[in-house]
Amino acid sequence: MAQKISLTRYLVEQQRSDGSIPSQLRLLLEVVARACKSISQAVNKGALGGVLGSAESENVQGEVQKKLDIIANEVLIEANEWGGHLAAMASEEMDSIHLVPNRYPQGEYLLLFDPLDGSSNIDVNVSIGTIFSVLKKPENGHGQGVQESDFLQAGNKQVAAGYCIYGPQTTLVLTVGNGVAMFTLDREQGSFILTQEDIQIPADTKEFAINMSNQRHWAEPVQRYIGECLAGKEGPRGKDFNMRWIASMVADVHRILMRGGVFMYPWDKREPEKAGKLRLMYEANPMSWIVEQAGGAATNGTDRILDLAPNKLHERVAVVLGSKNEVERVTSYHTAL
Ligand code: AHG
Ligand code: MN
Ligand code: MN
Repeated sequence: MAQKISLTRYLVEQQRSDGSIPSQLRLLLEVVARACKSISQAVNKGALGGVLGSAESENVQGEVQKKLDIIANEVLIEANEWGGHLAAMASEEMDSIHLVPNRYPQGEYLLLFDPLDGSSNIDVNVSIGTIFSVLKKPENGHGQGVQESDFLQAGNKQVAAGYCIYGPQTTLVLTVGNGVAMFTLDREQGSFILTQEDIQIPADTKEFAINMSNQRHWAEPVQRYIGECLAGKEGPRGKDFNMRWIASMVADVHRILMRGGVFMYPWDKREPEKAGKLRLMYEANPMSWIVEQAGGAATNGTDRILDLAPNKLHERVAVVLGSKNEVERVTSYHTAL
């Protein structure tokens, strides 16, 4: 029987072979994976663990927090505070950055996360996940501790990105910049086991993911693209398209990684001053890097997401990502204007 490769072994071997994973980063990724295991346990218990329902509080973005949003955030913070690998963290669920307390050594990395993605699916037992992004703390000239501005680096500066999906299986997907690998949680062993390496997204697809209920609010290029998909065989694309919308970015992106597709959360007219719904730093950037590392593409309609210069921690962005040829088509409809 072929030997099983655990996440730990995979990371050690990567570290040895090409030095792409320094030891602090390896520790960081192991700690994040351990936190995800613990979140997975809480998700699994559901009503039995008293983790369902609203926490009756709001986050900085005005969204009502679910109990699991808060639990997952706490699990990630507690797990990452003391190891000496981090300087600070930022989360969808915290207004400002969280510094590693003085009593612990400070590391050279910054960790950003969406602790629980797809919150509206928690109580209905549909796949949800955790998304994370790792940056290097810049050598700053301001001579002070870590500041929010240290986090405001473009996505192309990420040194690791990943997500964990809590679905029928708990699966961790990871990139450190040399392809995308997937690990499935073996609950008996309590460890993540490598189940797929070098994941590739097919360049073409017949499947799109968008919240169709917003159709009347979209801009013209998105109307055109989806209109052409819906016209099917008889339309300009000459083929029928299928649609999926899970309302957990993690689950929609995971499907695209496994079998192709295009995912869109575009700008719309309801709140014109808002670039989009999804957050740049801890949703769009890590997912865009994973998708690019798997041969796909990611833009905000006009520009590559990974090249956008962030202005604030909780900045929002329009997102078009997935199969390369489709993303290029959607982008060309925007730039042709
Ligand atoms: P979160 O639960 O972290 O706030 O993110 C939810 C996001 C994303 O996961 C998903 O693609 C999108 O919101 C769903 O939005 P709609 O409910 O508007 O479809
Ligand atoms: Mn999210
Ligand atoms: Mn979230």
